[in-house]
Amino acid sequence: MPPSDSPSNQIQNVMREERLFPPPAELSANSAIGSMEAYQELYAKSTADPVAFWSDLAKEELHWFEPFQEGLVWEEPVAKWFVGGKTNVSYNCLDRNIEKGLGDKTAIIWEGEPGDAKTLTFKELHTEVCRFSNVLKKLGVEEGDVVSIYMPMTPELAIAMLACARVGAVHSVVFGGFSSEALAERNRDANAKVQLTADGGWRRGKVLPLKETVDEALEKSPSVEHCIVLKRCENEITMKEGRDHWWHDLLEEVDADCPATPLDSETPLFILYTSGSTGKPKGIKHTTAGYNLYAKKTFEWVFDHQQDDIYWCTADCGWITGHSYVVYGPLSAGATTLLYEGAPNHPEPDRFWDLVEKYKVTLFYTAPTAVRAFIKWGDEWVEKHDLSSLRVLGSVGEGINPEAWMWYYEKIGGGKCPIVDTWWQTETGGIMMSPLPGATPLKPGSCTKPLPGIIPAIVDETGEPVEPGFGGMLVITHPWPGMLRGLWGDMERYQETYWAKIPHNYLAGDNARQDEDGYYWIMGRIDDVINVSGHRLSTIEVESALVSHDKVAEAAAIGRPDDLTGQAISVFVTLKDAEPSEELKKALKLHVRHEIGALAVPADIHFAVALPKTRSGKIMRRLLRDIASGKEEVGDTSTLEDYTVLAKLREKDES
Ligand code: WTA
Repeated sequence: MPPSDSPSNQIQNVMREERLFPPPAELSANSAIGSMEAYQELYAKSTADPVAFWSDLAKEELHWFEPFQEGLVWEEPVAKWFVGGKTNVSYNCLDRNIEKGLGDKTAIIWEGEPGDAKTLTFKELHTEVCRFSNVLKKLGVEEGDVVSIYMPMTPELAIAMLACARVGAVHSVVFGGFSSEALAERNRDANAKVQLTADGGWRRGKVLPLKETVDEALEKSPSVEHCIVLKRCENEITMKEGRDHWWHDLLEEVDADCPATPLDSETPLFILYTSGSTGKPKGIKHTTAGYNLYAKKTFEWVFDHQQDDIYWCTADCGWITGHSYVVYGPLSAGATTLLYEGAPNHPEPDRFWDLVEKYKVTLFYTAPTAVRAFIKWGDEWVEKHDLSSLRVLGSVGEGINPEAWMWYYEKIGGGKCPIVDTWWQTETGGIMMSPLPGATPLKPGSCTKPLPGIIPAIVDETGEPVEPGFGGMLVITHPWPGMLRGLWGDMERYQETYWAKIPHNYLAGDNARQDEDGYYWIMGRIDDVINVSGHRLSTIEVESALVSHDKVAEAAAIGRPDDLTGQAISVFVTLKDAEPSEELKKALKLHVRHEIGALAVPADIHFAVALPKTRSGKIMRRLLRDIASGKEEVGDTSTLEDYTVLAKLREKDES
């Protein structure tokens, strides 16, 4: 336990994790980066001169219609990478791979929720993208126009993104679970000109009426001139004369000849709205060349991609993970990427494992919320399937509790697949810290080390580095190619949010600590720190202690006001197969005392049916804080996945 006179503005580390998993020898032998020495050598080279490092890579890895003159022009807080060059992301994903001889390789394997399936080779995908690019052009879409995409996970979603990239239009993908209000707000903020959607999408056996939502949204999106509708579920919809067009009708009017437009390196590629903790969503802006290079290289490094891999990232294209690691990263690398439309538990809770077995998936990337759901659903669903094709497993989106990590490692990976716990953000464009499967010894719960070219630091409020072993704010000290270039239409908020607090550093908004081996441990959002009698504790550590109890499925820890201690720890727990009881509450408190110490014992424990989560699966601690502190009106819930969860939490509390 840290001494009690430790600096009060630093976060105490109360977690002990001593397990260490070296990479399997066979995997190291076949990896591009096959040892810690190789990683360290590359890292040292990359950080000695990051601009030269990235510039050399950009020349090798991307196709240039015109070469760039300068690696980086840095006018804080706006970066320009590969200045003066002309390239095209769609060209790099398609034409370049065909030129390399990968034309007949499968680019996309797709499976719909009802079980319908389709594959597209790089050549076929190229043809489809060219045709749809011509559709966009025909409707008057020009370089710089914004195309709003509200679609199910179908190949056409990826085709639409690539078509925008091909003609220099800017896409704004909005996750199909968002409301019409949310879609309209994003359309207005982006000044979207065209809307892409489908009649519906399949989710747990039901049709999500996407077009209906779009109709409502377009009432309040005055800038949208056209709406293109993919026929997916054949559900009944209304088409508005003059505005709405069927996807398949428009395709009939065009040919497949559409050379990629040479675009300046800094041409905006997409806007992706992320909810920010309160208020108006932030339109994160990413541009062409830097983003493309970063998505490609990080994909290759982190998954140790080999040409015969079958790669599956379960994220929806509505999130950054879907942009960088379903579409752009894998396709630029010439990888085969699997897209699945539906829910993980339809028709049964083993759908994912069924897909892994069927397509012989080798690289699998998912989120901790999914892993915890699988644990809850029971091992029997996993054990029915042959998962021996898997080589590398990934995790993204939240910290993964060490016990969930162990389950993932043993049950899914059979104890032979490294888990790459990847830390990054919508803003960073790609993975910033992660183990490399052939090189890095793993510690469950740690995202281990920065990737080449990335220089993080952990600082206190004054910008000074914190003492080793203590937590502080995670910052990035040097620009990198995948970084956001600003917030759409609001550069002031960009400056304030990310660059004002710690001058000359990118503020990630997360806390982290480094251990004695230099491994990074993400401790949660800065705003979520719990302060008990002046001891600053991270949410993930208390939660991980609870999740290590065999009856607990998920846990969320928050601080609520307390007269005596400033804040008291309040936890919300969902159970695996157990009934809530006073005895179990006592047992859990004892368990936390044993795992961490008296300091972290929760003052109250609430049993919940489910925890409130964002639509991308992150626990919303902010809402739990409101509940625990007895507020009647909880804060903004527009990103909440399941509104009934809040009501259920309240009922439980009142009973
Ligand atoms: C959290 C997702 C711990 C973190 C790519 C970050 C993580 C936010 C991890 C970004 C991880 C993401 N360990 N925390 N491996 N990955 N986070 O924008 O708080 O949806 O700041 O991007 O998720 O979420 P976003």
